[in-house]
Amino acid sequence: MIAPAATLEAEADRLLKALLHVDCEPSGRRWNYETCLALAPLTLEINRLKREKDAVILTHSYVDPEIVYGVGDFKGDSYFLSLAAKQAKAKVILFAGVVFMAETAKILSPDATVIVPDRGSGCSLADSITGEELRRLKALYPDATVVCYINSTAEVKAESDVCVTSGNVYHIVANLPARRILFVPDRLMGQNVRDELRRRGVDKEIITSDGTCMVHDQFSPADIAAARAQFPGLKVVAHPECTAEVAAAADFVGSTGAMMKFVKTSGAPYYLMLTECGLVGRLQVEAPEKNFIGGCRLCPYMKLNSLEKIRDALATPRPDQIVTLDEGMRRRAARCIERMFELSPTD
Ligand code: 13P
Ligand code: SF4
Repeated sequence: MIAPAATLEAEADRLLKALLHVDCEPSGRRWNYETCLALAPLTLEINRLKREKDAVILTHSYVDPEIVYGVGDFKGDSYFLSLAAKQAKAKVILFAGVVFMAETAKILSPDATVIVPDRGSGCSLADSITGEELRRLKALYPDATVVCYINSTAEVKAESDVCVTSGNVYHIVANLPARRILFVPDRLMGQNVRDELRRRGVDKEIITSDGTCMVHDQFSPADIAAARAQFPGLKVVAHPECTAEVAAAADFVGSTGAMMKFVKTSGAPYYLMLTECGLVGRLQVEAPEKNFIGGCRLCPYMKLNSLEKIRDALATPRPDQIVTLDEGMRRRAARCIERMFELSPTD
């Protein structure tokens, strides 16, 4: 069904209002009235399908901004989106993010049909360790409490005692009764946890597996030094998936949600965001007065999401786009995530 010209124009205006200032993409893609008018039939159709199917769309901040601002109902970091998935009352949850996030939504909302637009949207962290490999590691450290970063498969969550996100990892690990922690799958975040807990005077032994995020492990202290030399007063904002050297040289380290909050509430002349480019896009929409300098990178998995795939998956999902989990495994994984909700800081 083709929308009337006035409806398309109103939708193009709505999109342009959000996307006008976004220019962070290495591709150089910009949004103007013409590009927004071209997107309007798709966003209108997706928003109509959402009503028809009783669906909500959860969008991680790293997906393209026309998805976040054109069709997203909830936008944020992994913790926020997990809570949104748990509380969702809709029959259908479409997760514009990556597969482990859609699996998490299914774990927490088992009665909903959970859809992932592209089954290939993996994650170098989640894909770095299987349930079987974790079982072997656990056998080597039987006294350890097993903590999994949310960037892990449902299988790995089912083998873990407690899940954490980038927003609550320090708090949860610091407050666990066990001294020995087996932390999977992010080796770099594991080192950041060691360093932070040492700073807080908390005595823990952190054993990690060997995964890294293929986006965040690319940043280096040399990038930071070069940027600081060129932009006096610069604030460097990093994600805890970066190396310990990068985290030590940054002004702020936190989840994507916390990074956004930091930028919005501080008054620096320039920011260097050591994370995926989509977050800079979100800030250009929500804090257009801030200045960002280069240095961000793309996650190829997050970028597999597109409006076309979302429309097609909502209209008639293929079997590979519907998340299904073994019920026993789902229940065990749910326990590990529920434990995270219980142990998370309340502020
Ligand atoms: P956040 O939970 O901080 O958004 O991190 C998710 C992620 O995949 C970072 O690479
Ligand atoms: Fe995984 Fe890194 Fe992509 Fe986040 S940015 S989804 S951690 S590969």
